[in-house]
Amino acid sequence: MADRTLIIIKPDGVQRHLIGEIIGRFEKKGLKLVAAKFLKPDNTIATKLYAVHKGKPFYDGLVKFLCSSPVLATVWEAQGAIEIARKMLGSTFGYEATSGTIRGDLGCSRGFNLVHGSDSTQSADYEISIFFRPEEIVNYEFADEHWLYGKNE
Ligand code: RTP
Ligand code: MG
Repeated sequence: MADRTLIIIKPDGVQRHLIGEIIGRFEKKGLKLVAAKFLKPDNTIATKLYAVHKGKPFYDGLVKFLCSSPVLATVWEAQGAIEIARKMLGSTFGYEATSGTIRGDLGCSRGFNLVHGSDSTQSADYEISIFFRPEEIVNYEFADEHWLYGKNE
């Protein structure tokens, strides 16, 4: 079965008018959009998402940042989706991220890095469940799946 990953366009991505640019990259890559929700996260959502960072020096600021503006939460599906998306995001801070990645091309801040992407199957399952009920994830096929996902075997 194809992997699923949670990608969030964070507050700075929304405020900087970069939703289309960022979504477009995943769409062009061939990942399949299977869920989307535009919302202003509350403290409950932010603390669940960032539970793994509780106690770190940047935790309070991170939670406050996520609640500071609407975000677009999305789920994308493909074989290897988690790893593919992490490569497309680039390393955590925009000023260090390689050109060609979303963070490398579109930002140079430390804490504001435009996108969140799940980093493992376990965290993807957990993170997706914070934003979506199972029935909100749409199961469908692309007409060109053969060309997108085909193997020359
Ligand atoms: P993300 O979870 O958002 O996809 O980012 P990531 O895996 O690349 O980075 P992670 O280590 O999970 O950190 C989560 C988010 O915390 C903020 N951060 N700020 N000020 C700091 O030193 C610092 N370190 C991390 C970033 O917004 C990062 O995306
Ligand atoms: Mg992370």
